[in-house]
Amino acid sequence: MKILSVVGARPQFVKLSPIAHACERAGIEHIIVHTGQHYDPLLSDVFFEDLKIPAPDEHLGVGSGSHGKQTGDMMGRLDDVITAHDPDWVLVYGDTNSTLAAAVSAVKLHYPLAHLEAGLRSFNRAMPEEINRVLTDHAADLLLAPTDVAADHLAAEGLADRTVVVGDVMTDVLMNEVAALDDDASPITEKLGFEPDSYSLATIHRAENTDSPERLKTIIDSLQSVDHPVVILAHPRLVAKAGQHGITLEGGSLHVLESLPYPQLLASARSARGIITDSGGLQKEAFLLRTPCTTVRPQTEWVETVELGWNVLVEPSGLVAAATRPRPAETDETPYGDGQAADRVVSVLRDRATGKSGDRLDPPLGLPLSRESFR
Ligand code: UD1
Repeated sequence: MKILSVVGARPQFVKLSPIAHACERAGIEHIIVHTGQHYDPLLSDVFFEDLKIPAPDEHLGVGSGSHGKQTGDMMGRLDDVITAHDPDWVLVYGDTNSTLAAAVSAVKLHYPLAHLEAGLRSFNRAMPEEINRVLTDHAADLLLAPTDVAADHLAAEGLADRTVVVGDVMTDVLMNEVAALDDDASPITEKLGFEPDSYSLATIHRAENTDSPERLKTIIDSLQSVDHPVVILAHPRLVAKAGQHGITLEGGSLHVLESLPYPQLLASARSARGIITDSGGLQKEAFLLRTPCTTVRPQTEWVETVELGWNVLVEPSGLVAAATRPRPAETDETPYGDGQAADRVVSVLRDRATGKSGDRLDPPLGLPLSRESFR
């Protein structure tokens, strides 16, 4: 059997890592296609190196552009690459433009399509990620949901019969990487001298927080006003937009570092007293590390983090108060699975391969799938 994974942006490299290793363990041929959406070494190459992901078999070199241009360029190049490799499954990850491009290419070429991290919803259609994930879910033959809540969303959209709950692959990676960390591995202490538990770690990059000068200014002013040091890991989009809007990031409580490699990010998040973010993945990582999280968004896809008290959603005006709130009650809940999701993904893909690449059956997998949970 041959699986072809398409990735392009930083969080997808993290999700790819346990899948690549699970394919190796299962002796399954795995082709990696990198669209080139993220091209900075700190957003791309270091993830392949640190997480020991094999180098991509194909690199499409697409780079930045408007949504339509970026997505269209990817689709044009993916048609040839998917056809040439003739996989049994095209596997797409998460909710970026790379996800949508590969989904559209695969289904139009009649290749079986599986969506990892299916069923997440913010119900905010102004987010490009929400559009990408809804369209991808409806195009896909197999929906690999991380949680029961995600599976419920898919059922509500009439997609229950293509859904399997496998758990969350980012939990697999986090558990492995944390086990390998030194106790004192945080670069924040080394580079800035802040002791563990004395600082908050921040990331802000989403279009809805960075595109408006007023909103971005309020967020940065708030971060500068927190009553303890805040270290922001500056994503290229944040740096570019702050520059365009004439906003200076460094100042007051706010200290700027560039993006960190994944193990260093985990070490820094684990040592922080709090996380302030608009990233989806970091909200969940904060929960798994039991670091309280403040999310600068009106909704979250990872509602379990909020329900269990470890994450609060705020408008920029509520950021300072939320960042200084007391720690919540401890919990031993595991809504994101047991760290074995990637092996389940690979075994589901193997069991449901139709056997011959390119033969798309109707119903898509030739199997009367019912919603199943492997957790
Ligand atoms: C993308 C995803 C988002 C994900 C994020 C993780 C979409 C619609 N958004 O957002 O869901 O959370 O990745 O980082 O797919 N840039 C660089 N260097 C790079 C990549 C981008 O400088 O290597 C700059 C671009 O020039 C552009 C901006 O960052 O100014 C946006 O990049 P893009 O990949 O389109 O989206 P992200 O904001 O990174």
